[in-house]
Amino acid sequence: GKKLRVALLGCGVVGSQVIRLMREQADDLAARVGAPLELAGVAVRRPGRARDVDVDPELITTDAEALVTRDDVDIVVEVIGGIEPARSLILAAMNSGKSVVTANKALLAEDGATIHRAARDNSVDLYFEAAVAGAIPLIRPLRESLAGDHVHRVLGIVNGTTNYILDKMDSSGASFSDALEEAQALGYAEADPTADVEGFDAAAKAAILAGIAFHSRVTAADVHREGITEITATDVASAKAMGYVIKLLAICARSEDGRSFGVRVHPAMIPRTHPLAGVREAYNAVFVEAESAGQLMFYGAGAGGAPTASAVLGDIVAVARNRLAGTRGPEESTYADLTVHPVGET
Ligand code: HSE
Repeated sequence: GKKLRVALLGCGVVGSQVIRLMREQADDLAARVGAPLELAGVAVRRPGRARDVDVDPELITTDAEALVTRDDVDIVVEVIGGIEPARSLILAAMNSGKSVVTANKALLAEDGATIHRAARDNSVDLYFEAAVAGAIPLIRPLRESLAGDHVHRVLGIVNGTTNYILDKMDSSGASFSDALEEAQALGYAEADPTADVEGFDAAAKAAILAGIAFHSRVTAADVHREGITEITATDVASAKAMGYVIKLLAICARSEDGRSFGVRVHPAMIPRTHPLAGVREAYNAVFVEAESAGQLMFYGAGAGGAPTASAVLGDIVAVARNRLAGTRGPEESTYADLTVHPVGET
């Protein structure tokens, strides 16, 4: 019978967990999809590197370009991160008719338009639940569950590394650099942790969320961004003494007249009684406020290999089901095309 063959680009913290889950849950996944999922190949930069999972050496390749265009591949999963070569590989995959699952928030926030257009032009799926807030379902709720509602605001903690750092500074008086090292050792931080601590990672996620929530095109450059590198142990201690905790917030908010919106990422003082103050370690939490639904809260593991791989697997199952059914998931919706407030004027 039909098999669905998956090409994996990248085998780091997330990729190795995707392989483990595909293997351990093979029978369940086949039952849920209606056909077995098989790993067709794993593209890596350094084949000799130690990994968290054993991979059949026959499957490993350094030629990602050849892998994504191979006839026997149905689904390409991109967990390399960064702009290039991820963008070229995703476009090559789509141009060869493959469905794509990606966790790449930086790419979607910088050049989502190109990726979404390629998905549409080639009639293939583009799923990216793992790009925002790890395991927490946010993309599907916004794109699908809330498709009949009107979103006013999306607000929360979307970066695990900075939350981990701020939480350690608050709870144990840890220094910024010790807390960052711990977050890196636990596999939460980006390859270059500047993306986390300077707020670029949260800004990319905020851009993606705002685009979906407000049916408009939003890029990382539209986001007012301030990171946590200026926050000292003294700031954290004095906030604590006043009954507050410092959190890095992402805020996507419609204007009063509803015709524009602003997107920003910056540290904020939160009263210790607020639900966001209780978000510890690398957890994330996002509030969505919609006209009819009212306030919704999404909470869970926002970073780390297994939680992020859970979101990737969910997307693999979704695109696999779509392929078998000869159908596609939702396309990018930018019909509203609202004005984004210029940076700094939100
Ligand atoms: N570096 C990111 C974080 C990983 O800390 O949230 C998840 O996107």
